[in-house]
Amino acid sequence: MERTFAIIKPDAFAAGHAGQILSRIYSEGFKIVGLKKLYLSKVEAEGFYAVHSARPFFGELTDFMSSGPCVVMALEAENAISKWRDLMGATNPADAAEGTLRKEFGTSIGENATHGSDAPETAAFELGYFFNGLELL
Ligand code: PPS
Repeated sequence: MERTFAIIKPDAFAAGHAGQILSRIYSEGFKIVGLKKLYLSKVEAEGFYAVHSARPFFGELTDFMSSGPCVVMALEAENAISKWRDLMGATNPADAAEGTLRKEFGTSIGENATHGSDAPETAAFELGYFFNGLELL
């Protein structure tokens, strides 16, 4: 079993899609081992996305992620990291395959409904950024 970190981003939460996304998470066989609704500050978003701090869209990305509530989750499954990224689809919803979350709920490369860790080291950092051990049951 592997764990990954996932976010229902502010665009999807504000549009009322959290329930449908959680339903897909369950039906695809993930176990939700941690879940919180948060309203990130700009500084918290900047810390989370620090790896992208030199990229031209960093300001836009962190403004967006601190623009409203989101849902952060720890998901468990076999090959959870790749399984969740497959379910999300391509970063740009325009390129995402039919049936993926970003195809269904994303509207642009920035406002793309969901986030997922891209590697085991990233998952460890991202899970630790939002959850302590006692919260992951
Ligand atoms: S990926 O999946 O990490 O390879 O994607 P990448 O292209 O590197 O993008 C990293 C995150 O930045 C967001 N992004 C943007 N936000 C706003 N404007 C623009 N132009 C833009 N391009 C990329 C993208 O949604 C990724 O967010 P996360 O939360 O990591 O999926």
